[in-house]
Amino acid sequence: MLITRTISKTRAVIAQARAQGERIGFVPTMGYLHEGHLQLIDIAKQHSDFVVVSIFVNPTQFGPHEDFASYPRDFERDRKLCEARGADLIFAPEVSEMYPERSLITFHIEKLADRLCGARRPGHFNGVVLVVSKLFNIIQPDVAVFGQKDAQQLIIIKRLVQDLNFPVKIISAPTVRESDGLAMSSRNVYLNPEQRAQSTVLYRALQRAKALIESGERDAQRIISEMEKLIATASEARIDYIEIVSVRDLQPIARLDGQVLIALAVYFGKARLIDNIVLEVAGDQVREIPALP
Ligand code: PAF
Repeated sequence: MLITRTISKTRAVIAQARAQGERIGFVPTMGYLHEGHLQLIDIAKQHSDFVVVSIFVNPTQFGPHEDFASYPRDFERDRKLCEARGADLIFAPEVSEMYPERSLITFHIEKLADRLCGARRPGHFNGVVLVVSKLFNIIQPDVAVFGQKDAQQLIIIKRLVQDLNFPVKIISAPTVRESDGLAMSSRNVYLNPEQRAQSTVLYRALQRAKALIESGERDAQRIISEMEKLIATASEARIDYIEIVSVRDLQPIARLDGQVLIALAVYFGKARLIDNIVLEVAGDQVREIPALP
């Protein structure tokens, strides 16, 4: 497995792989990898011959009071995990390599960033699409894999690729969970034992929502209220949002119909955890969609 730190070296290594007829797969990450990331590598390997993992904690997607400085980093651990999982290249640039100057060209995202995390983290998705566009231009992957745990990010990236004609196929991957249901996240490391024990309430709230919908409930506000009640039983939990939106445009819906995203963000101490489920509701039929096509 190779490691590159510069854009020029990365381009040279990938050009060589491509010259040998290899398809390039890409897994963008901010490091501190967990099993969820490693399964993205597995999926990239199934769809390509040469898998690039980027490890870059991207400053432009963090707000001024967010955890950019304290975001967990352990390159040596990440290197071993990527190697064991069969990645071919880690691209791990310094901030100065990716942003030698503040970017004067930025993005404006209509509609899709108005709600959910976009509403609570102003500018976050502009920073995400900026860095992902740069990474796509540097790596020029045939396929790129994103986890559905960050459903709003996934939907915005799909639209980025569609609107800007990036020649890359986006593949979504199901959320990977701990055995008690907690969605894997690099930020879970912030949880103390009590918060970790209580954090299972998030998955239970999503399952409660699903059960209500399966039993015929279609009123979004009633479902949200039930989820709030359940999460309120965890003394350490502070709800940032619980929303039910349509997958198509990420706008809130009053009654459930079609593809819906039930998403939440909840603080446990300094850890802001997000989780979601996507359901297809058609008449009295309800089906979970673990990975959006
Ligand atoms: O999902 C993440 O880890 C980041 O938002 C990404 C896609 C690597 C961009 O920095």
